[in-house]
Amino acid sequence: VKIIYVDHEGTERDVDANLGESVMEAAVRNNIPGIDADCGGACACATCHVYVDEAFLDKTGEREAMEQSMLDFAEGVQENSRLSCQISVSDELDGLKVTTPESQH
Ligand code: FES
Repeated sequence: VKIIYVDHEGTERDVDANLGESVMEAAVRNNIPGIDADCGGACACATCHVYVDEAFLDKTGEREAMEQSMLDFAEGVQENSRLSCQISVSDELDGLKVTTPESQH
């Protein structure tokens, strides 16, 4: 499954993500800048904050309550903000594009 990470300057990096891992785990495994994931995916740090491409908002689903409360503390939160550790890679997400916020670089 291909995931495209775009940094705040618009540089795109393609990653081959495995089914079942999170969008954060695929990023960390491939040394994507801007996704630090300090808490290791426990939904407790918000350093894995990304903006989901409009075309994929339906497929990535809704924020969970815990994710929402973390995002309340994150910088630059937008309508399409998600914590990438809470998005699980599935076939449906092939070609997913996520952008990392400037504050994480
Ligand atoms: Fe910490 Fe996602 S890795 S909230």
